[in-house]
Amino acid sequence: MTLLDIVPVIPVVVVRDAAHAVPIAKALVEGGLPVIELTLRTPAALEAIKRIAEEVPEITVGAGTIVDTAQPKQAAANGAQFLVSPGSTPALRAAMRDSGLPHLPGVSTVSEVLTLLEEGYTELKFFPAEPAGGAAYLRAIHSPVPAARFCPTGGITPANMGDYLASPNVGCVGGSWLTPADVVARQDWAAVAQLAETARSTAVRPAR
Ligand code: 3PG
Repeated sequence: MTLLDIVPVIPVVVVRDAAHAVPIAKALVEGGLPVIELTLRTPAALEAIKRIAEEVPEITVGAGTIVDTAQPKQAAANGAQFLVSPGSTPALRAAMRDSGLPHLPGVSTVSEVLTLLEEGYTELKFFPAEPAGGAAYLRAIHSPVPAARFCPTGGITPANMGDYLASPNVGCVGGSWLTPADVVARQDWAAVAQLAETARSTAVRPAR
């Protein structure tokens, strides 16, 4: 089982209050999406990962928005089980590898894809998916570069996720629409569970 094959939709989550972390994780599990990418964009993020790792063992929790070389170790120390970066440098990839955790480095060009394939990566994040060319772009690079598989994120919505998932080199998509800021602010965990359930039940991964 690889990171791209656990669920068809990886919830990308921004947590401003660490107290929201566990209820969000439980709601995602209830909705049938037992994976969460917690972005390191807020002061609460590491504590949120820690609480989820300790209190919701049924979810696979990862750290997203890895942009500096200190973060992989910090994320791992707080219980992260995988890492995701929006782009990467050689130093950032080395730091992610040193953590020992599975990780998805971000790419948005064919040359970046080829560079990472040379290093042995076959699973990549495609970011920012919509501005960088969308599902049509991924479909276009499948034929020349069939070894690369992607989790596109950035601008994915319930309306366009099917187009991405239909591309043979897309394993799953990621997105923040499952945990809208206003829904989280009013702590409507039932709504988060419903958004997850809708995504899970409508995200079709063609058999390959
Ligand atoms: C990410 O880090 O993957 C993106 O910020 C998620 O993009 P979205 O908010 O457009 O879903």
